[in-house]
Amino acid sequence: MSKLQWKGSTLLNPTPAVLVTCGNFENANVLTVGWTGIVCTRPPRLYISLRKSRYSYAIISESGEFAVNLTTADMLEAVDKCGVYTGKNKDKFVMCGLVKEPANVISAPVISQSPLSLECKVFETVSLGSHDMFLADIVSVDVEPEFIDENGALRLENSKILAYCHGKYYQLIKPLRELGFAVKKKGKGR
Ligand SMILES: Cc1cc2nc3c(=O)[nH]c(=O)nc-3n(C[C@H](O)[C@H](O)[C@H](O)COP(=O)(O)O)c2cc1C
Repeated sequence: MSKLQWKGSTLLNPTPAVLVTCGNFENANVLTVGWTGIVCTRPPRLYISLRKSRYSYAIISESGEFAVNLTTADMLEAVDKCGVYTGKNKDKFVMCGLVKEPANVISAPVISQSPLSLECKVFETVSLGSHDMFLADIVSVDVEPEFIDENGALRLENSKILAYCHGKYYQLIKPLRELGFAVKKKGKGR
């Protein structure tokens, strides 16, 4: 093969760069997470992987709840700061100008500036090594109305969603084609 061989590592990027909120409205915390993703469609489930040393780890372990808030380029500085500072002795919401909103189902708040927040309840925690994985049911999806079109469809094309890729942040800007375009017959549907 023509490729160079490196030892196994975590280069499966990009991943979303999300802000995970936890705790309760008055005593909430927020941290940046890259190790996250959907693991099941029905029931809708996702994971986040955290180091035990994170202040948020104990909060989520105890409450069994958290929210995954998608982020945008306008939130870039907050994303970086929440991924460096711990909330142990600091209110990162105040520090970063993040506005808390009460969630629909869970006690932790969601972030007002986020276009889409997924409220989650943990059903299993798996110890993996450096990180523990919280597997969670997505119990509510909270969407900013400005990203819903006249047909009720979610349109995040113009929301400048942030991704993390090999040590840098990127924003999504250019949709290419819709799912299934390659197998659609011209003018006739599938
Ligand atoms: C882009 C980015 C992605 C991160 N992803 C994770 C992650 O997936 N898991 C994790 O435990 N920490 C991750 N971190 C580090 C935590 O966000 C960071 O240690 C934070 O200060 C922990 O906050 P806390 O102590 O208030 O919980 C990431 C940081 C950045 C900047």
